[in-house]
Amino acid sequence: MEDNLPVNVREYQELAKKALPKMHYDYINGGAEDEYTLRENIAAYGRILLRPRVLIDVSKIDMSTTLLGYNMPSPIIVAPTGSHKLANPEGEVATARAAAACKTIMVLSFSSNCKIEEVASSCDAIRFYQLYVYKRRDVSATLVRRAESLGFKARRAESLGFKAIVLTVDTPVLGRREADIRNRMVFPLSPNFEGLMSFDDEPGTEGGSKMERFARETLDPSLSWKDVEWLKSITSLPILLKGIVTAEDARKAVDAGAAGVIVSNHGARQLDYAPPTIAALEEVVKAVAGVVPVMVDGGVRRGTDVFKALALGAKAVMVGRPVFYGLAARGEAGARHVIEMLNKELEVAMALCGCRSVAEVTRRHVVTEGDRIR
Ligand code: FNR
Repeated sequence: MEDNLPVNVREYQELAKKALPKMHYDYINGGAEDEYTLRENIAAYGRILLRPRVLIDVSKIDMSTTLLGYNMPSPIIVAPTGSHKLANPEGEVATARAAAACKTIMVLSFSSNCKIEEVASSCDAIRFYQLYVYKRRDVSATLVRRAESLGFKARRAESLGFKAIVLTVDTPVLGRREADIRNRMVFPLSPNFEGLMSFDDEPGTEGGSKMERFARETLDPSLSWKDVEWLKSITSLPILLKGIVTAEDARKAVDAGAAGVIVSNHGARQLDYAPPTIAALEEVVKAVAGVVPVMVDGGVRRGTDVFKALALGAKAVMVGRPVFYGLAARGEAGARHVIEMLNKELEVAMALCGCRSVAEVTRRHVVTEGDRIR
């Protein structure tokens, strides 16, 4: 065991800041424009208090749950974040191994630095694939097919291949991330696009980040509910919609046949002044009315945050930056340690709230700002 291992996510963030070039730390850490939503994603968790119940035998805590029928030892899964080689030379393969060691689900980003096939064959795990719908529909369709077909070819359907598509719906255009614009952020094109698409690497004469220019050329601002229909027509995998924060869209997602809804504001990297996700969760949970699972991401830094999300109706939470920080600080071991720490913190929170299983975590275990006003 190394000496002086970090004891929480914030300490990993500090280590990541020291380990990374400023441009890359800013890319990971930053949000859109005034970063109001970025601060609020975390601050809103701080305004929810817990109502511990005592004198309940908590000698056995079972954090296990299921998602789309897959068993998980805890409700914490890995959010899709792009370009893991900025944090570690092994990139998403290291993250995939960390997630697999924790027996949890990793959602592989469309903007990964490792190939789909490489990640799939790196270790046994259940994985989901995150998708952007590009103007070039053929590029998106090809990647969906590649992610899906692995499961059939490998004949080990339980361990290889991706089991769901996470369609990111909050990015018809790229949010204005000012740190990236200032730093003229450059990033490597995903090797998944090799042979499908090229991108001229010359710095843009118009200024801004290369990422912004790439996004302008690739992302499709005409993205609409019709594209969910299109995606359903090209894959038999379940489709989760990521980036929903209102009851209206949650109902539409269910009507469109989504297998799940992910309450997300893209880690506050898209629309600034969008609500902090933990504040939007309950409205979405009510709208979905148990028809499909609801997940949440954004600002989860503590096991108590996970507990609060469960109490407000989330089936699972996704963590983005914390895993990235772990990867930047200590590679695969760091990413794994971050997930393990959050699991441990959740276990303690459940014990101290008198909850022996995730099913026992209820709305009565939290007090939100709204509750206090009422
Ligand atoms: C992201 N996110 C993201 N989402 C997505 O659908 N596709 C992607 O490629 C990326 N890339 C990405 C890169 C980085 C560096 C970050 C920080 C985030 C958003 C991500 O999936 C998730 O919604 C947020 O990261 C959740 O917030 P926290 O946990 O980072 O606070």
